[in-house]
Amino acid sequence: MPDNIAGHPSVKNHSSRTGLKPSEMLLDRSYHHAAMKRLPDSWKRGRPDIVHFALMEALSTPLFLKGRLKVYVHTVNDKVITIADNLRVPKSYFRFEGLMVSLFRDRVIKSDEGAVLMELADGSFSSLVNDIGADKIVGLSTAGVQSSVHKVAGIAKGIDDCAFVIGGFPSGHFSEKVTKNLGPTYSISDFGLEAHVVIARILYECELLEEGVHHEGNE
Ligand SMILES: C[S@@+](CC[C@H](N)C(=O)[O-])C[C@H]1O[C@@H](n2cnc3c(N)ncnc32)[C@H](O)[C@@H]1O
Repeated sequence: MPDNIAGHPSVKNHSSRTGLKPSEMLLDRSYHHAAMKRLPDSWKRGRPDIVHFALMEALSTPLFLKGRLKVYVHTVNDKVITIADNLRVPKSYFRFEGLMVSLFRDRVIKSDEGAVLMELADGSFSSLVNDIGADKIVGLSTAGVQSSVHKVAGIAKGIDDCAFVIGGFPSGHFSEKVTKNLGPTYSISDFGLEAHVVIARILYECELLEEGVHHEGNE
């Protein structure tokens, strides 16, 4: 919750209903729509449900379960969430929200056995990209060059690490700070798709490539 809207009535109401301090709450357009009018880039913010869907999709894939996929979330306020290989995201949004509130408060989530499941650190998108050290950073956007999802996933073939960057926002495009770090950027459909659909398609193609499965359109 940004400080400058913490005193807005919609935030205060939500705070007294949930018992959370505004500083502990996730910005959520479903509750804080009126307060968000004051925020810069407000149309790109306040949708933690998009991140929930995206994580559920990515972390349920065979690619992730086999340990062949690393997942990071970079936030608008330059926080980086590192997802551990053994994280299973709660299917219930209510439980996911609780987990994220704890993560932003404690900066780490551990399992009952003490294994780190999620960590929060300060970090710009550029520093995240540097830390990952991928050979290629590929952007996915409707503003990118039209291509097939098969060809885009194929970029990962024959190199050690390839990062795919997907926007976890409802509308708008990557900021300049993100765009300057991207290599090629591709659009994989004539439609503007939901982030989780793009994730599902790219990761499925990566799985097929890994298995050496050839299908129509393969080159
Ligand atoms: C709901 S969209 C955000 C809207 C944005 N105007 C756009 O279409 O890129 C969420 C994310 O899904 C990905 N995405 C959506 N449609 C896409 C497409 N046709 N090709 C590639 N990526 C797409 C992008 O990473 C985008 O940031």
